[in-house]
Amino acid sequence: MNISVIGAGYVGLVSAAALAGKGHDVVVIDTDEGRVRTVNGKKSPIFEDGLEEAVSDGIESNRLKATGDYDEILATDITLICVGTPSNPDGSMDLSCIVESSKSIGRVLRAKKGRHTVVVRSTVVPGTTRGVVIPALEQHSGRKAHVDFGVAMNPEFLQEGIALRCYFNPDRIVIGDEDGATGDMVQQLYEGISAPVIRTDITTAEMVKFVSNAFLATKLSFINEIGNICRRLGIDVYDVVKGVGLDYRIGRSFLRAGIGFGGSCLPKDLKGLVHSSRELGYRAQLLESVLEVNQNQVVNMLAMVCEKLVDLDGKTVCVLGLAFKPDVDDIRNAPALEAIRLLLEKGALVKAYDPLAMPNARSVLSPEVQYARTAEEAVADCDCVLVLTEWDEFRNERLYQGKVVFDGRRVMEPARARMFCDFQGISW
Ligand code: UGA
Repeated sequence: MNISVIGAGYVGLVSAAALAGKGHDVVVIDTDEGRVRTVNGKKSPIFEDGLEEAVSDGIESNRLKATGDYDEILATDITLICVGTPSNPDGSMDLSCIVESSKSIGRVLRAKKGRHTVVVRSTVVPGTTRGVVIPALEQHSGRKAHVDFGVAMNPEFLQEGIALRCYFNPDRIVIGDEDGATGDMVQQLYEGISAPVIRTDITTAEMVKFVSNAFLATKLSFINEIGNICRRLGIDVYDVVKGVGLDYRIGRSFLRAGIGFGGSCLPKDLKGLVHSSRELGYRAQLLESVLEVNQNQVVNMLAMVCEKLVDLDGKTVCVLGLAFKPDVDDIRNAPALEAIRLLLEKGALVKAYDPLAMPNARSVLSPEVQYARTAEEAVADCDCVLVLTEWDEFRNERLYQGKVVFDGRRVMEPARARMFCDFQGISW
């Protein structure tokens, strides 16, 4: 198939490289000239395991190319919208990229001969495809959705760090459409991938994505809250999860208690859902609490640090881990950012280290933060160590010998750690 993908971000580039790898002809359209140049130069503008090789293979085999020119859509059968939907300050989703790309696609479709299919892959608040995307496409193309062109919603469930693996081994494929034929065409993109296919209408598909992320976030805040109770009872929440998680209705995944969830998706999608339900006249109390419990994990850890060091003013605090999870360089909504902000506010000197995320951190963190070249250098001569990302290299006991350590990611077994350092776990 000839496919155009709007947006060379995580979702767009992973989808494009994966589809090119499956033998489709794919053009990625992005307004950022730097990104276009990078992709055409066989490089990935994003750090993601295996993506650079997949991009390079795609360019070399002439199955993949990048451009800034929306007219390239004319030569394709199907367009995947994969642009970002970040949070506005009030928690609502910023749909400006969705609106702009829909208008641009619409303008091109005016000249398109034959039927075209437009697929929304970005995470959008339920109702956005019908209420925002379709009107923009119709207005700018002068054509009618579901009659002159097809529209579908096909949410992605990629996890950063293992995104390509997730693409080729999904738990399910969800396709929402209004006419059947459009959904059939989208389903063809997944030929050769073995997973249950759920066919719905467009708004239900949008909701499936939101509910998936909201449920994952709820599991995390649930287990963090249970961990906070367990800690006060002298119980190890990780042992509790072993016992609880064997119930097949509960499972063990996404029950690793710790400093809380970050990233570009869970916090943003949860805020978006809370905001849109408020607009519908319903207060989503449980989901609001999920966000509150998550934010409090960092505050709780800082309270533990203050209690231990008495006064943070002038103390040197080492932060190990800046990325929102290991094996990525992404710091968006990472718990480390808020922890560092609070530490600096209390007058602490912050020495930070992360194997991958320091360049990204430098661009957003206060210039007061010092960066170490290695974990060993970071922990030297500090008053305490905070572990905020579970990189494998932080599982090294030698780093913590004789130190005051606050583990936010369960990099050590607490009983063992207490034998060689002054150790506290955030929720255990
Ligand atoms: C998340 C979802 O897991 C994907 O299914 C979804 O497609 C994606 O958002 C998206 O909407 O695009 P991602 O943001 O890559 O994926 O990150 P996760 O692996 O979900 O981790 C989120 C956060 O939860 C991280 O900060 C991680 O450290 C934390 N976490 C995860 C825990 O604290 N404990 C756990 O047991 C699992």
